[in-house]
Amino acid sequence: MKCRVCRGPAVIDIRRHNANFCQEHFLRLCRDQVTKTIAEFDMIKPDDRVLVAVSGGKDSLAVWDLLLDLGYHADGLYLGLGIGDYSDTSGDYARAYATDRGVRLIEVDLPTEHGFDIPTGARAVKRAPCSACGLSKRHLFDKAAHDGGYDVVVTGHNLDDEAAVLFGNTLRWQTDYLGRQLPVLPARHGFPKKVKPLVRLGEREMAAYCVLKGIDYIVEECPMAVGNKHIGYKEALNALEAESPGTKHTFYFGFLARAAERFHEEVEAERDALLSCQRCGAPTSNEVCQFCRLSERAAGAQPVKLGAKRSASPA
Ligand code: AMP
Ligand code: FES
Ligand code: ZN
Ligand code: ZN
Repeated sequence: MKCRVCRGPAVIDIRRHNANFCQEHFLRLCRDQVTKTIAEFDMIKPDDRVLVAVSGGKDSLAVWDLLLDLGYHADGLYLGLGIGDYSDTSGDYARAYATDRGVRLIEVDLPTEHGFDIPTGARAVKRAPCSACGLSKRHLFDKAAHDGGYDVVVTGHNLDDEAAVLFGNTLRWQTDYLGRQLPVLPARHGFPKKVKPLVRLGEREMAAYCVLKGIDYIVEECPMAVGNKHIGYKEALNALEAESPGTKHTFYFGFLARAAERFHEEVEAERDALLSCQRCGAPTSNEVCQFCRLSERAAGAQPVKLGAKRSASPA
């Protein structure tokens, strides 16, 4: 196996590029793909203050590392979601990276600052944990960006994530979600700009990136997500990709080029109808935002012990 660029010994093959790469040229490929994505979708300006949402997993640590290496002013944001040992361990990885690189990591702990954790909150509102978690994360990302005066929020969503979400949204024709599934959401109506610079890179590449750069990350998946539909969509797409490398890329980038625009109108109409939450001031379509409703319901609820039977089934 020889590197496509220098013909030296390769450390990774990327079937959808039909090529192998040595360490140096693989790391360069990752940087080039991120640079290209940032330019193509006008994601980040050189002087922007960037907030990277870091979960302690490979993707978000890799995107933080890539942005720092590319010279961006990027701070990290870690949210403690109160998911037992999983949260404790993932926080340790995020902190270790920040200390190692001497960069700033902002921490927000949901149980300490808002009085509830994801397992308890999800049960209180009878939602699947990943759904309560997703809405809490979005709310806390927006709030941290607003409070800290950041220009843009970065997440570590990669090509595998985006293709799987697109697959799920298409199977159910969730046109409102399809209209919002873009690599860039511009700042509007009190929401910060949000970008996904890893959409050209896959999960396997991000794991290799971290190993080659010596970045330790939490390998374990979130225990609340086990068996959810998203994981099934990923497996289905992996089977297709194994037969025809490049399927995920064609599916996702084809959607962006030829279909995404068709769903914009619905999202625009939704955004124009936004109000300010009466409790916290966040943009919302109701008088009280979903996060405030979640925290109010969770406040009186019995705490859920992880490992105990849950009443809401996973998404
Ligand atoms: P997930 O929704 O777990 O697939 O994560 C998608 C992205 O959200 C990650 O790549 C991170 O950028 C961000 N993220 C997930 N969990 C956290 C967390 N606990 N704190 C900060 N950012 C997170
Ligand atoms: Fe949110 Fe698992 S990280 S439910
Ligand atoms: Zn090489
Ligand atoms: Zn609110």
